[in-house]
Amino acid sequence: MWEQVQETVNYIKEKTGFAPEYGVILGSGLGSFTNDIQVEFTLPYNEIPNFPVVTVEGHKGALVFGTIGDKKVVAMQGRFHFYEGYDMKQVTFPVRVMKYLGITKLIVSNASGGVNPAYEVGSIVLIKDHINMLPEHPLRGKNDDRFGPRFVNMSEPYSLKMIAKTKEIAKAANIEVKDGIYMGLQGPTFETLSEYRMVKILGADCVGMSTVPEVIVARHMELETFGISVITDMGDEENIEEVNHAEVLKAAEKAEPSVRLLIKELIKQY
Ligand code: HPA
Repeated sequence: MWEQVQETVNYIKEKTGFAPEYGVILGSGLGSFTNDIQVEFTLPYNEIPNFPVVTVEGHKGALVFGTIGDKKVVAMQGRFHFYEGYDMKQVTFPVRVMKYLGITKLIVSNASGGVNPAYEVGSIVLIKDHINMLPEHPLRGKNDDRFGPRFVNMSEPYSLKMIAKTKEIAKAANIEVKDGIYMGLQGPTFETLSEYRMVKILGADCVGMSTVPEVIVARHMELETFGISVITDMGDEENIEEVNHAEVLKAAEKAEPSVRLLIKELIKQY
């Protein structure tokens, strides 16, 4: 794995000569964030050695390199999900690559289902913690100490300072944000009503199929990490509306301008 990561990093460095400070993973319906980047290079995943290939509708597959203000950024336009059949090492491979391209901070976005009654469709949630309920762990197996320690401290997986800064930015821009705990489940089914109830009882505010593996691997390598989620459907028992992928994309796209602004300003100001 170490050798593969370094091979990929060397390829990208040779191609771009670019050393980003921020990595950004763009979730469902949030891909247009790349419009906020002064793009210098775009590398499609299928041209990058050792990268998996994207299959989900609404997700593009490219690494986008450029600047926001005076900050250097690499954005993943499209991510890899466990439910697509990738194993956790593949899902999190790009995070390792971004680390050795030079990032020290990782920003992750996603769409999720809300179970906190204070949320509604379109709510923007700053993730303050997560509950990992995915069936495979990205750090399972022999640990490579060059990446990080065997046992990873997870007391602050999401940077409290980045959350505080984003709350400031949101207030100044008149954007309502909540905070909350994200539960990662494997999907690809959306939850049954009973499963949404379980998510709530277990102490989470929202649920989705991504983010947790990337954040675990980011913390393994001591990246400072920030997560933001758009509530695209509410999983409550009164809600008999069916959730589907089109609805999720539509709701995520509606919140997109606000999420874009928050991430852009966080990168500029933090
Ligand atoms: N459940 C799981 N993943 C999701 C949901 C949901 O309700 N909405 C968007 N992604």
